[in-house]
Amino acid sequence: MTLSIIQTSHTDPASVQAHWRVLEAVMDHDIPAFPKPTPRTVYLWQKHGWVGRRSEDYLAFVDGELAGRLEVTFPTLDNLGNMFMQLDVVPEFRRRGIGRALYEKAAERARANDRTTVMSHTAWTLPGLPARDGGAGPAFAEAMGFSSANLPEVMRRFDLSALDDGVLDAIFEKAKTRSEGYRLIRWIDDAPDEYIDDIAYLDSRMVEDAPMGDLAVEPENVDAARARDAEGLAKARGRTSYHTGAVHEESNRLVAWTTLARDAELDWHCWQQITIVEPRHRGHRLGALVKVANLRYYLEHEPTTKVIDTFNAAVNSYMISINEEMGFQPLYSFQNWQRDV
Ligand code: ACO
Repeated sequence: MTLSIIQTSHTDPASVQAHWRVLEAVMDHDIPAFPKPTPRTVYLWQKHGWVGRRSEDYLAFVDGELAGRLEVTFPTLDNLGNMFMQLDVVPEFRRRGIGRALYEKAAERARANDRTTVMSHTAWTLPGLPARDGGAGPAFAEAMGFSSANLPEVMRRFDLSALDDGVLDAIFEKAKTRSEGYRLIRWIDDAPDEYIDDIAYLDSRMVEDAPMGDLAVEPENVDAARARDAEGLAKARGRTSYHTGAVHEESNRLVAWTTLARDAELDWHCWQQITIVEPRHRGHRLGALVKVANLRYYLEHEPTTKVIDTFNAAVNSYMISINEEMGFQPLYSFQNWQRDV
């Protein structure tokens, strides 16, 4: 068997198509309900990257046949010792050492870029939520010397055909009675200038405020310029993002914020992204308030959406309780892994 691993570019349509084919085969096998990208989405992801991140893409061929892919991503503005890796082997080619060879390529790229910690994630099993990969991901991660970051995450799905307006009204009304002195604002894509510093501040708190398990990550330094870059990149990647925030009227500061985003290519699907409340303003049910308001704002504009997916750390009980009250149900779980190189 001859294995070759080649670096690819988004400017080559055949390799973009090949990355998509690997992703499709792996997702169909391991996480079939996960929203699959289209070839155009893969192209846009590779072309535009992400704010403060630089990625390299590789494909693996066995005797000329497409067998796997690797994406390594280097944070460039903070977390300069870290590298993220996504490594996928087509199901028919598994247990032939291709994963190991791709990992060796990843470790080589980490060392060449002075990175000391490699991070990745795999499917995971939690009670009532079995992984469909037969345990391949965790067994492989351990065989490659990774340790669990003790940060299981659960992807939950809200099937909008089960949306209950009465339930949403009740959550919203209860939250309203606790949130006097705050008003809601909404926007699509680009935040109003007067609140962009607050957005940057809230965004930079995510690493401190969300459960991070043992993951060796430091807070990101997000300023207004970086927050604007993130908005621009989300649009360039084909995303439309709907935001609702709560403004503390006395100080005119945006102190709670949530986002629902959809990909131009997937008219049935939406991601519930960030939800954060500034610590001094917790206890007013602002999280529930902005989430329900944003869902209604979103659905006014995007009536074709059928499901909303979201990720939470398994231990994030406050956010999970809001999500489950709204109608989100567990779908898959994932584990985070890291190792020093
Ligand atoms: N059961 C038990 N051990 C396994 C399994 C499995 N199903 N799969 C791999 N391993 C372990 C074994 O120790 C194996 O060595 P051995 O075959 O000599 O016993 C070792 O991992 C290397 O296996 P490879 O053949 O190199 O791995 P493969 O090419 O099958 O790819 C992978 C494994 C990447 C996990 C594949 O199943 C896949 O693409 N899964 C979906 C995506 C994913 O989970 N990626 C892992 C990213 S996380 C990380 O890399 C740390």
